[in-house]
Amino acid sequence: MQNDLLTVEEITLGDLKEIFRLSAKMKKERGIAMDKPLAGKSVGMIFSKSSTRTRVSFEVGIRELGGFSIFLDQNDLQLGRGESIPDTARVLSRYLHAVVIRTFKHEDVVEFAKFANIPIINALTDLYHPCQILTDLFTIYEYSERLEGIKIAYIGDCACNTANSLILAAKLSGMNLVLSSPKKYRPSKDLMENHNIGKGTVTWEEDPYKAVKKADYIYTDVWVSMGFEEEAKKRKRALKPYSVTQDLVNEAPSSVKIMHCLPAHRGEEITDEVMDSHASIVFDQAENRLHVQKAILSMLLKDE
Ligand code: CP
Ligand code: NVA
Repeated sequence: MQNDLLTVEEITLGDLKEIFRLSAKMKKERGIAMDKPLAGKSVGMIFSKSSTRTRVSFEVGIRELGGFSIFLDQNDLQLGRGESIPDTARVLSRYLHAVVIRTFKHEDVVEFAKFANIPIINALTDLYHPCQILTDLFTIYEYSERLEGIKIAYIGDCACNTANSLILAAKLSGMNLVLSSPKKYRPSKDLMENHNIGKGTVTWEEDPYKAVKKADYIYTDVWVSMGFEEEAKKRKRALKPYSVTQDLVNEAPSSVKIMHCLPAHRGEEITDEVMDSHASIVFDQAENRLHVQKAILSMLLKDE
């Protein structure tokens, strides 16, 4: 595995296999016989956006691996008063063994990683959410025991961070991803056409009812991602036909599973009926964040 986890693009199939192996082990052995690969290590968590799952699962995971976490709101740091990203990265590298960052601009995390000499983990930017999507791959693997050839239909805002990471993940793992949205929120042309890191296929389909045909999994995310609140009214109007309702789910095979990274805006991108149905695996996804991130941390900090 490379030194940092900034995007799914840095992950090889070999890394993915090892992440799955370790995640399953962490899950099975939780609270029984756990290794402490982070013993004596401190991990900083710089968050400039809200978080429930990512913050709590990382903090609990770091502690369970024997390490110590320090939560740092961007405004608590001199970063909030104009100290540069390179200087902050250089200084924090002298105290910490890794930094987990959630922020707006993806380039800021890239710049931080460039000047840090410790592992940097992207915990969500406007562009990517790799920890979420690697977890989702593990969750799909738990249910289907394979990834290659699995069809996943992503419905909603296809230009957001989870969609972007899912495009890369589908290509890497050999899944067949169909994204469905209005034209205005269609997936990035560059991500669709380039970044060919594996055998998976990625297509866009404007009609959500066509997109979910033969799907093994239906995935959705909020229509208004953090940082896009000013566009809320416009987005909700345009994306309304892309709500994951029972009517839409009925177009897929009866074995289809429903995924959402959460938090959900019930009644918008997903209905209560679908979210609370037997097909929904959204809370398995949330739980697996803990196991998968512990696997990632132990891999990144192995030789530190
Ligand atoms: N899915 C996810 O990243 O959730 P949080 O925003 O609560 O961390
Ligand atoms: N696309 C969402 C994901 C939240 C975990 C957002 O960025 O707000």
